[in-house]
Amino acid sequence: MWFKVLEKPPEPNAMAEISVGDNQLVLTNYNGKLYCFNNRCPHEDFQLSFGCVQKGKVKCSLHGFSFDLVSGESSEEGVESLNLFRVKIEKDVIYVEINPDQ
Ligand code: FES
Repeated sequence: MWFKVLEKPPEPNAMAEISVGDNQLVLTNYNGKLYCFNNRCPHEDFQLSFGCVQKGKVKCSLHGFSFDLVSGESSEEGVESLNLFRVKIEKDVIYVEINPDQ
């Protein structure tokens, strides 16, 4: 199901914290594309919005592990992948898709 989240994209490489129901998410604008992911690091549940976006990855500020913005894959072996959400823009409004099983 698609949820309206913002009416303008975050600044390049900035991370906007958004809430959709019980989901705490981050929307980021990297190289002109929008990416959305869970705001909890899969390693130890730290807020990823305290980290930064660089080289196509979001880097967690607690232990420095990175997660790919496209695949969600972790830089660290044995750490779960980041949960990603699809994003679309319609008439300048940004939507995120959240499925009940996510
Ligand atoms: S909590 Fe994010 S890398 Fe450890």
